[in-house]
Amino acid sequence: MTAAMQAVCALADIPDGGSRGIWPNARGQHQAFVVRQGGQVYGYVNNCPHYDRARLGWKKDAFLNGPGDRIMCASHGALFRITDGKCEIGPCIGQSLRPIAVRVREGHVFTEPPH
Ligand code: FES
Repeated sequence: MTAAMQAVCALADIPDGGSRGIWPNARGQHQAFVVRQGGQVYGYVNNCPHYDRARLGWKKDAFLNGPGDRIMCASHGALFRITDGKCEIGPCIGQSLRPIAVRVREGHVFTEPPH
């Protein structure tokens, strides 16, 4: 774990199979988000590779598609693999979300700040 990593939430704060926004900016917009699959947590910067300033979520803490098997951009519907952030369907196919380092330790989720 690097010195820059900070606790962002408890593992229990993320529903298993769900997502959660983290690192709110001064306007309350989440700069990154995490997705939980069992004990595994994946983290990405909250910017779509289609338009870099676009946020992905369609409402608070909602970053997944209906079945919950992919990350979805609310702007134009791009679908990304949860495990590596690669776009499989949509206008930015082949591009990827920017990952952030995530560690789970003693029931808490630590990440590096988004950049
Ligand atoms: S901004 Fe995300 S798919 Fe267009």
